[in-house]
Amino acid sequence: MKTILVTGGAGFIGSNFVKHMLEKHPDYKIINIDVLTYAGNLVSLEEVSNNPNYTFIKADIRDREKIEEIFSSNNIDNVVNFAAESHVDRSIEEPEVFLTTNIIGTQTLLDVAKKHWKINPNDKYCKEYKEGVKFLQVSTDEVYGALGKTGMFVETMPLMPNSPYSASKASADMVVRAYNETFGMPVNITRCSNNYGPYQFPEKLIPLMINNCLMEKDLPVYGDGMQVRDWLHVSDHCSAIDTVLHKGLDGDVYNIGGNNEKANIEIVKLIVETLGKSEDLIKYVKDRPGHDRRYAIDNTKITTQLGWSPAYTFEQGIRETIEWYLNNTEWIKNIVSGDYMKYYESMYSSIEDVAVSKE
Ligand code: NAD
Ligand code: TYD
Repeated sequence: MKTILVTGGAGFIGSNFVKHMLEKHPDYKIINIDVLTYAGNLVSLEEVSNNPNYTFIKADIRDREKIEEIFSSNNIDNVVNFAAESHVDRSIEEPEVFLTTNIIGTQTLLDVAKKHWKINPNDKYCKEYKEGVKFLQVSTDEVYGALGKTGMFVETMPLMPNSPYSASKASADMVVRAYNETFGMPVNITRCSNNYGPYQFPEKLIPLMINNCLMEKDLPVYGDGMQVRDWLHVSDHCSAIDTVLHKGLDGDVYNIGGNNEKANIEIVKLIVETLGKSEDLIKYVKDRPGHDRRYAIDNTKITTQLGWSPAYTFEQGIRETIEWYLNNTEWIKNIVSGDYMKYYESMYSSIEDVAVSKE
């Protein structure tokens, strides 16, 4: 039985990925480690919490001792590293935690994995690893910086990150690359465009606008609202990562995107219209400092070399997503009230810092 360590699995994409893997690979064991920051929400994983192939461990990826303990007591084959501080606006307010989690956390995981996976860990020249091991770093298209009116991101472009968030993700990519070059560690890096879908924390554009609309609150549009993002449904991101995990060539980087460029204001107006609200709610506010104007992913490599393609059109995905938020108002209410933070304590307080397994 293959064992996959998913980090940050209580977040938006990580929780969708844990569920995807348990469904698509019923013979795999999934260990989810997450420190449960404000963005980590175990309620998103309630439906799999009794699955015998699923284990949750509360752990910080920067905590070497804890990561060491997890590797020592489990035969881990792959790491899929989602754990990160992920919100650009927060990185402008408080950059430091972005650097420690996103860079040092990644390096800590790489180091411990290297020790456990290398055939001869004490030989610095040894580049032989156990059969089938791989470290997959979940990165972002934001590492490439911003595009003008034309052009697309390709994997060979230089990294030109503009925000503390994207700078920390680009730094982590460089460290992962170095572990592949210097130590021969089997790795892949994926760089995906903006995701949307169920269980996204309502600080990001789409869930924030849906939630504010439902509460008849102002819809803050930064600057002129003409910034362009290339949107992908989270379940397509999960299937792409699954594909790279199984088929990605050692050391390679794969862009992930579905050719869905939209200006922010188009998305906001679509949400307003779908929910039958008034455009008077839209308020243009001061622009985000260092705001990237346009992102667009060239997905030729993953589609032609690995045979992945997205299943969702944007129209279907956004309609289902809006419906999901309408049908799951309790999930959002829990977040807005902060009650989701109490979930871990009520479920697991007597076994703090111990693997929470249903086995
Ligand atoms: P998220 O903020 O929803 O989730 C991040 C998770 O990581 C949370 O559960 C949090 O508790 C956990 N975490 C944070 N610091 C940790 C630490 N030190 N130790 C252990 N766990 C920690 O983020 P997301 O949107 O799900 O993004 C997941 C990954 O995908 C990130 O690496 C992000 O850079 C990348 N990504 C996101 C998008 C997007 O549109 N959301 C697009 C491309 C790439
Ligand atoms: P966001 O969801 O924060 O993702 P990212 O910054 O990683 O692309 O923002 C998406 C776009 O929406 C980005 O151009 C900033 C813009 N935006 C607003 O105009 N208003 C908002 O309240 C938020 C959260 C984002």
